[in-house]
Amino acid sequence: MKASVASRSFVTAAGIVIFSGSVYAANPDQTRARMDKIFGALVSVLPLSLNGAEYEKPANREMVLGRLKDLSDESQSLESHATGNDRTFAFIAGSLAKDARDIHRWYARGSYGESRYLLHNLTENCIACHSRLPEAKVFPAADVFFKDVKVASLPLMERAQLQMATRQFDAALQTYEELFKSSGSRTSEIVMMDGFVDYLKICIRVKQEVARPIPILEGMLKRPDLPKFASLQLSQWIASLRKLSKRHDKAGFELPSARKLISDAQRASEFPMDRGRLVDFIYASRLLNSYIQKKDPGAAALEKRFSPATVQSPRPDLAEAYYLLGVTESMIGRSYWLSQTEFYLETAVRSAPHSKYADKAFAFLEEQVLVEFSGSSGTNVPEDMQKTLDDLRKLMKR
Ligand code: HEC
Repeated sequence: MKASVASRSFVTAAGIVIFSGSVYAANPDQTRARMDKIFGALVSVLPLSLNGAEYEKPANREMVLGRLKDLSDESQSLESHATGNDRTFAFIAGSLAKDARDIHRWYARGSYGESRYLLHNLTENCIACHSRLPEAKVFPAADVFFKDVKVASLPLMERAQLQMATRQFDAALQTYEELFKSSGSRTSEIVMMDGFVDYLKICIRVKQEVARPIPILEGMLKRPDLPKFASLQLSQWIASLRKLSKRHDKAGFELPSARKLISDAQRASEFPMDRGRLVDFIYASRLLNSYIQKKDPGAAALEKRFSPATVQSPRPDLAEAYYLLGVTESMIGRSYWLSQTEFYLETAVRSAPHSKYADKAFAFLEEQVLVEFSGSSGTNVPEDMQKTLDDLRKLMKR
């Protein structure tokens, strides 16, 4: 409790001017310390959970329960200290905290299958947060984890996921490249794989090695099993990577640069979900993530300065940045587990409810929701989503 009060005042004192080139704004050492604990807990339960029988074995129960409790507690404190960071960070931290809490609860009441299933999806949160921004430092110590035989013998795709979750980016890229080169998977499958988008995101957003995927994609282009649609996409992606690798984006121009990249990409698309410009959308999201990390003072600071929230002191720049992130995410988001598109659009509206971008974001959000929740039995928007839409509508009218 004490720690929480102390660090909160740190956040408020420094909250608005916090950008220093590190990956996160508020209190980096504390975040790292928490990450180490979260990682430590995961290291001991994840290998066990790869086998259902071991996970629920009575002899392991006390240990597993204790580690899941740690995982949950540490995730809760990451969440409660996240309000000094930009709102995307806080959102993902909240999602992690919820998942970790559920995993512990399911396990405690003996629902092992549910608990295991959730645990395997938990890493989506780690990946979403880690793949957002350039890496500030290389983290070597995860070797312990990968020495475990069970982890080492995982299929390549799952191994790469774990490497990303634990910030082993170089290793993850190598694993992916091995997977993409192997004849074990068809090119059409590779191109459609979630992992493929993750691979591009790490190259472009985290490692900032925009040219790196080019030879890999060229190799795929030569393969005889390549379907026509994939060959068209790969050629477009290679062309984009070549062009983007020559760019030098000046700091301070992220928003207009992203705006232009997105509108050019949209204009060049032949149909709404055309993936030919995937790489351009990923690159634009890199600029936007960097913008909001620098400019979004976080929920705590926003609430403190303007009450209620941002209505009196709107931030149309943030509304635009979040709206554009929603647009890119709808093209490049790959996780059904953790959908960020709706969060981005909602945050756009809240950032400046009477702005042009709030209007656009709201319309897009409404459309996304209707598409998502309509089926052969009609439209069934869940209550909380409907409430969000109603609240936003009121906010925009005020
Ligand atoms: C809300 C954002 C967020 C989430 C969620 C998240 N992390 Fe992190 N993680 C970070 C940041 C920021 C760093 C620090 C990066 C740096 O210093 O370069 C970090 C660093 C780490 C590190 C390196 C720690 C060190 O000593 O430098 C590990 C390991 C790690 N995270 C594991 C995990 C795992 C495992 C999960 C999921 C269970 C996870 N993280 C979820 C943001 C997040």
